[in-house]
Amino acid sequence: MNKRVAVFRKEHFNAAHRLYNRQWDDATNFRVFGKCSNPHYHGHNYELEVRVTGEPQADTGFVMDMKVLSDLIQQYVIEHFDHKNLNLDIPEFKDINPTAENIAVVIYNLLRPHVSEKQELRIRLYETPRNFVEYPA
Ligand code: NI
Repeated sequence: MNKRVAVFRKEHFNAAHRLYNRQWDDATNFRVFGKCSNPHYHGHNYELEVRVTGEPQADTGFVMDMKVLSDLIQQYVIEHFDHKNLNLDIPEFKDINPTAENIAVVIYNLLRPHVSEKQELRIRLYETPRNFVEYPA
């Protein structure tokens, strides 16, 4: 019998970014990225949902202790991103655009080493209440 259960932890952080392709001129960047290419950056209130899937452990009944999961997200994601300029402060975005898609992949890679290999990890990131991404898809 499949006893796998998904558990979720929500966190949030604020960060600034600018979306642009340095190979393109300003007009092309504005056409593709709109206001998100504003040279002086802009901020988002990112809402993060981390999903861990696995079987509840026999001794605790937990898939994963939520306090442990919360601490991992705080330590490896929130401390890293909160109140930062993603383009300028975060080495992972030195050469890639800090889109919601790419931020979700970076967050997954930061957390993956700290979650049991037996458990599936999935990241959902809301850039606005209506726009959100999920990785892995
Ligand atoms: Ni933006």
